[in-house]
Amino acid sequence: MLTGKRILLGITGGIAAYKSAFLAREFVRAGAEVQVVMTRAASQFITPLTMTTLSKREVIIDMFPPQPDQPAVQPTRHIDLALWGDVMMIAPATANTIAKIAHGTADNFLTTLVLALRCPLILAPAMDVDMYLNDTTQRNIAALRETGCSVLEPDAGELASGLSGPGRMPEVDRLFSEVVKSLDNAHRDLAGRTVLVTAGPTYEPIDPVRFIGNRSSGKMGFAIAAAAAQRGANVTLISGPVTLRTPRNVRRVDVATAREMASAVMAEFAAADMLVMAAAVADFTPVRSSEQKIKREQKAGGPFMLELTENPDILKTAGARKKHQMIIGFALETENGVENARKKLSAKNLDVIVLNNPLAEGAGFGSDTNVVTVITASGEVERLPRMAKIDIANALFSRFAPLLP
Ligand code: CTP
Repeated sequence: MLTGKRILLGITGGIAAYKSAFLAREFVRAGAEVQVVMTRAASQFITPLTMTTLSKREVIIDMFPPQPDQPAVQPTRHIDLALWGDVMMIAPATANTIAKIAHGTADNFLTTLVLALRCPLILAPAMDVDMYLNDTTQRNIAALRETGCSVLEPDAGELASGLSGPGRMPEVDRLFSEVVKSLDNAHRDLAGRTVLVTAGPTYEPIDPVRFIGNRSSGKMGFAIAAAAAQRGANVTLISGPVTLRTPRNVRRVDVATAREMASAVMAEFAAADMLVMAAAVADFTPVRSSEQKIKREQKAGGPFMLELTENPDILKTAGARKKHQMIIGFALETENGVENARKKLSAKNLDVIVLNNPLAEGAGFGSDTNVVTVITASGEVERLPRMAKIDIANALFSRFAPLLP
């Protein structure tokens, strides 16, 4: 099942580390090559000898050999290993290591390796309930998820301290299947491809402090960029104003207005293999943006008329210039969804349109999940169940990456 796959297994210092011995054994049984990387604290819970024996490879703990009589290590071993792995799982992941990774600290071999990693990274947090629910830990986990790391939900139950709640490391079979799932999504079917993604809202200025915007959080587009990068693509993410972190291995271009987004997209479109327009582009913009802040007295006493003019339709322009590119658009509809989305698909010369209704349960702005219907130019219509946005992104690529010319 995992024949030929290269797994980096990180182990940090927690009582659940003993389960990682079983995990390593399962990976090896399934045909994978396993390189175990431990922290010093982890070696208090499970011995490096146990892990070396089970993984059939020498465990790495230190950046530098602790004893002068030990063989010298290759100076770039952390980089070589980062490129070697097909996936990395850290199980258990302590609050401390999660915090370090979220902030880019590289103070031991494991965290240094993580910083150089290109493959998918899965973390299995395991700690006491209060440490897990601590606001700082939760913020670190949210930050890691934003950059495209998969952070598993711990199991709830009795903990080593005698307290009860979320904090238990998931069982070995679940960890194993998460690695299998991640490898499925990382089969590098977009290697060598250039994928252009747009995300977020646009801000159309009224004056230096006010704008017309919308509620798009950018999460769907960022998930698409993260998934494409994990599948090996060169990804450029053109983003409107959002508060999200840039996914790992993604080049990001920030824009504010629809016109800026249009020029950024058109500058990159010719060289792209695929364009995914997940941005919520404003259709209209103020005719004039006042150079000075508009004062209340200027407009008091009567209706305030704000004159708007049409913005360029970025997708339509791209559709008209399409050569080899596959173009995936999004449609936001609150009624007659499939019919309206089909019209957009043909009017904008798209290959695929992803329909979503922000009013549906588990969908919409700011949510981590979405409910979408995928409609293709050849007429297929498939409604996907409610899924995490990253899973929707992967479902789209699993289906459409093989169709790229
Ligand atoms: N889009 C675009 N340029 C615009 C407006 C929209 O490229 N000026 C793209 C969006 O990124 C999305 C698709 O077009 O992928 C559909 O956007 P949507 O707002 O649903 O459709 P509109 O064509 O703007 O039509 P309407 O607002 O009337 O539904």
